[in-house]
Amino acid sequence: MAKRLLASFVPEHYDLLIDINRKAKTIKGTTTIVGKAKETEIAVNQKFLQVSQVLVDGQPVPFELNQARETIEIKLAKQGPVTLTIDYQAPLTDTMMGIYPSYYDVAGERKQLVGTQFETTFARQAFPCVDEPAAKATFSLAIKFDEHPGETIIANMPEDHVTNGVHYFQETVKMSTYLVAFAFGEMQKKLTTTKSGVQVGVFATKAHQAKELDFALDIAKRAIEFYEDFYQTKYPLPHSWQLALPDFSAGAMENWGLVTYREAYLLLDPDNTALDTKRVVATVITHELAHQWFGDLVTMNWWDDLWLNESFANMMEYLSVDALQPDWHIWELFQTSEAPMALQRDATDGVQSVHVDVEDPREIDAIFDGAIVYAKGSRLLVMVRSLIGDDALRAGLKNYFAAHQYGNAKGDDLWQALGEASGMNIGAIMKAWLNQPGYPVVEAKVVDGYLTLHQKQFFIGDGQDQNRLWPIPLNANFKAPKLMEKADLDLGDYQSLRQAAGKPLRLNDGNNSHLIVKYAPELLDDILDHLNELDHITQLQLLQDLRLLAEAHQISYADLVGLLGKFKASQSAIVNDALYRIASKLRDFIVPNTPSETNLKQYFATLSADQTKRLGWKKQINDDFDAELMRPTILSAALYAEDSAAIAAAHALFKQHSAAKLPADVRALVLQNEVVNFGSGELFDQLLTDYQQTSDPSYKQDLCFALTKTKDTTLIGKLIDRFEDAKTIKPQDLRAWYRGLLANPAGQQAAWDWIRDEWDWLDATVGGDMEFATFITVTSAIFHTPARLAEFKAFFEPKVNTPGLTREIQMDVKVVETKVALVQAEAQAVNEAVTRMISK
Ligand code: BES
Ligand code: ZN
Repeated sequence: MAKRLLASFVPEHYDLLIDINRKAKTIKGTTTIVGKAKETEIAVNQKFLQVSQVLVDGQPVPFELNQARETIEIKLAKQGPVTLTIDYQAPLTDTMMGIYPSYYDVAGERKQLVGTQFETTFARQAFPCVDEPAAKATFSLAIKFDEHPGETIIANMPEDHVTNGVHYFQETVKMSTYLVAFAFGEMQKKLTTTKSGVQVGVFATKAHQAKELDFALDIAKRAIEFYEDFYQTKYPLPHSWQLALPDFSAGAMENWGLVTYREAYLLLDPDNTALDTKRVVATVITHELAHQWFGDLVTMNWWDDLWLNESFANMMEYLSVDALQPDWHIWELFQTSEAPMALQRDATDGVQSVHVDVEDPREIDAIFDGAIVYAKGSRLLVMVRSLIGDDALRAGLKNYFAAHQYGNAKGDDLWQALGEASGMNIGAIMKAWLNQPGYPVVEAKVVDGYLTLHQKQFFIGDGQDQNRLWPIPLNANFKAPKLMEKADLDLGDYQSLRQAAGKPLRLNDGNNSHLIVKYAPELLDDILDHLNELDHITQLQLLQDLRLLAEAHQISYADLVGLLGKFKASQSAIVNDALYRIASKLRDFIVPNTPSETNLKQYFATLSADQTKRLGWKKQINDDFDAELMRPTILSAALYAEDSAAIAAAHALFKQHSAAKLPADVRALVLQNEVVNFGSGELFDQLLTDYQQTSDPSYKQDLCFALTKTKDTTLIGKLIDRFEDAKTIKPQDLRAWYRGLLANPAGQQAAWDWIRDEWDWLDATVGGDMEFATFITVTSAIFHTPARLAEFKAFFEPKVNTPGLTREIQMDVKVVETKVALVQAEAQAVNEAVTRMISK
């Protein structure tokens, strides 16, 4: 393990004076660090800083910049208390890391809002510091900038005073460098106060309507009140600001007291936003606010325990929204987003475990794998919660915060607190889940009259079985032990168990354990015979597990085709989500513009026609929650099926409204229908201009969705031409455009050529960013033919040693290989099954 800087120098307080000039694009600063030297050779982090002078206790000393270690190295005369004063300069760049400007237009005028992004290791680009999460210290910020009237500046703490144009902020509590933040420019805001007296605010540029801030303000206030109660620990700062930044690389960032967001994840038009979008925005806000305690007040000791921050916040976002807004059924969203994401990625050999050893800064960014650290990690914590219950969870957390506040913790500290509160050795159970990659498939069979269970690791594609075992919370509805710890388990005489339970065998009831179940045919038939008695989560789980088994060649994909019809009348949004996820996968087995596609479209029609009639394009007075949520799922299927009534109805709706004012839940699909079936160059230009000009983030997303669906190659070329024009498509949004075109058979070649030709540009533009690797992920999620596989390997394999991309490339090659093999093995059977279903 590389030595940490904190081992030789412990900072206690920072005085930061930073002078930012937007016009000259420069940062000038003086950082004073009071701390203790434990050795005489010490170092502090810096990156891209030009250091002009280092003083030790007021005296200039020689120093060395080590660019590889990203440090300034200093020799001291003695150990003990020391004050370092460092003068430096740096360029202000558009990298969305460190201190950076965001760009936006108001009334045709280009403006800037400067903000910060310091996680993971970018504080060192703004000021010299020991940039390690365990190096907690207090900070006094003083910021100067080329200020003009009407501008404001905000930071982690309230402003204290302004002298000679320098804004001085109150000293912070002890915190990690990656959570320091400030922002300045022209902003609008809305404020409120929690019951306990915390000031809550939402800030945005003036390009937005004031009402777009209301939703976030309400959720943020109630979330803080909820957490103060749930954690039984007060919010420790005077204010909690939420700020939407026009340029933002991640989704949102939990800076203590000044949380920053992508505009799409904070602002929404309360009068026209889909329920689905509201739910997502609410979970982003509650995620970041969960971190204000879990992450900010108590921080992981090192990045290997990143899961401690992120998995936890990812569970809490659902737990809290469920408390704030029970009518949103937010745990259902967990089942349709986190669960499938985790189960898919975690089934590929070579995947990382939730807990990973990590040292190199570029590798630190690469461990933020949404499917693992977030989705799988939160699933594991849901499993813990269901094992110990909320009372023990709350009691344990209270003790955990009390023991580690303003300090750091490791995974074991959490297990200890939860173990004491619950009386269970929870750490022993969780280690197997956190430290091992992958998850088990539990096979249930009746052998000689006995019901037997067997666990083994589940792989999609080739996998090296290492005989891994997991302590599995079974959640069986038959008489069975709580935990299955060995490879095999005999539950006893099947007939008597079946009789005693009075219903078919179900394992992992509630879908809270991270595993899938493979029922032997007779057990599965028993379940399917009682389909209507199963709750929606169970139905979703059944479809989800079968889909994964089919992707792993353990059952035939063709069998799923017959099964979908049994679910097609379901009025549950999540069951339909699972159903159409499988149906969409069937597109991999056909060739566009051939009879196989015509047949599949017709199959989509048989699945969706009745529901399309039932739901229509407009909200209905008798709409329930599920009807509203599933309408887009069904209509999307209807458009694929080329349902002529649906196409005409969408067109009529388009004619009635201006594009932006279309009902938000179906807007993306209405626009898609227009672009694909009624499109013209004129319409296209108009929508692209709308994209550039609108400040409504969800309308922007809908436009991207629709425009990338065009089949017109001239227009596709026009789009590609805008990919590198940040005034049209911001780098933060480029991946969605690329993905959209790549998924469009008419646009795939152009998009694929673009990324290969422009890889160096992409690397230079978003290369330092942790989202960079996901350009590869989305490509592998789409490719499924031998030709594309060969091209994919030819292009990416030579890049396999690029830091931060290694695992992604290795895994994604396997992902495409596995799909190609599946399609080759099953295309004929699948197409035959589809033909059978439509001729019935
Ligand atoms: N701490 C992260 C943001 C982050 C991630 C910063 C990686 C630097 C590197 C933040 O709390 C987060 O998890 N954001 C998510 C959104 C969230 C709602 C799941 C994100 O950015 O994707
Ligand atoms: Zn987070």
